[in-house]
Amino acid sequence: MMNISEIEKYINEAQDFLPENEESLEQFRIRFLGKKGIIQDFFRHFKEVPPDQKREVGQKINQLKQLVQERIATLQKSLGKSQRLHQYADLTLSGDPFDTGGRHPLSIVRNEIISIFSRIGFVVSEGPEIEDDIHVFSKLNFPPDHPARDMQDTFFIEKDPERHTQNDVLLRTHTSSVQVRVMEKQKPPIRTISPGRVFRNEAISARAHCIFHQIEGLFIDKNVSFAQLKQTLYYFAREFFGQDINVRFRPSYFPFTEPSAEMDITCLLCGGKGCNVCKYTGWLEILGCGMVDPNVLSFNGIDSEKYTGFAFGMGIERIAMLKYQINDLRLFFENDLRFLEQFSQDY
Ligand code: PHE
Repeated sequence: MMNISEIEKYINEAQDFLPENEESLEQFRIRFLGKKGIIQDFFRHFKEVPPDQKREVGQKINQLKQLVQERIATLQKSLGKSQRLHQYADLTLSGDPFDTGGRHPLSIVRNEIISIFSRIGFVVSEGPEIEDDIHVFSKLNFPPDHPARDMQDTFFIEKDPERHTQNDVLLRTHTSSVQVRVMEKQKPPIRTISPGRVFRNEAISARAHCIFHQIEGLFIDKNVSFAQLKQTLYYFAREFFGQDINVRFRPSYFPFTEPSAEMDITCLLCGGKGCNVCKYTGWLEILGCGMVDPNVLSFNGIDSEKYTGFAFGMGIERIAMLKYQINDLRLFFENDLRFLEQFSQDY
């Protein structure tokens, strides 16, 4: 005969029940809620309950049913969790991969160039991006009417229309200005490279930008020769582009070097046979160079009778475009992840 205390016994049992696994939880469910389970059995015998107890017994059975349903729901959840916990505790499992990011291609190329020159004793020097006329032009032997001193080519912040002075504030157009600052401070021997951002007033296109990056080099000592300049740059080209690369020097002009030259390397795409990248010449121009003009030495307090030097300068974007065969300069500045992610394997 069913009575309140019997139902309460089951209520206590259900409250205290803790399954070991999903299987024992399922057995618990069948025992209480199954077709032939305890609760169904109570309902089946409900008609035998005396009328004055029906209300109380009915409520107790419903209480038991609700409790069992709730217990099953919470126990199912916590069993699932602890099973997952079990999985996480397996320290032999391999980790989830995550994105580590990567260096910008310009940084990769800059670091590689720096490392090549530092192996032969060049040290890195840096200077301000906002400069004055003296360090960007005057001390580098630019004639007063040189077009670079025009607003069309240079971004001026302040400009005296009459004279070229230290008060002409501008964004540096090359990192040769850093080398002027090194010469002001340091006595020869000087062996330095200056990487950095430079600015020119140019329309933005696939081949030109108003901001780009350079690395310029300067070597001043006794008896520095053009042969040393050529060997140094030949060494660089082979280290960077591979031992099979050939170089050639063409005469050129820069205000701060005399004689001046531009250096070409064999076209990386056609190997020198001629293609549309090298405009069917077989050669690609990569840098400007020359022997430091004696004027530049004496403007900066270095005895030009005693010392000679060479200088060179290259655009990092141009070198990176050749290395990775990139055909649009603007890609370097857009920071599109689809572009940048392609370099994350490099260092
Ligand atoms: N300063 C030059 C430029 O910006 C590059 C260069 C440097 C050329 C040193 C010769 C010697 O184009």
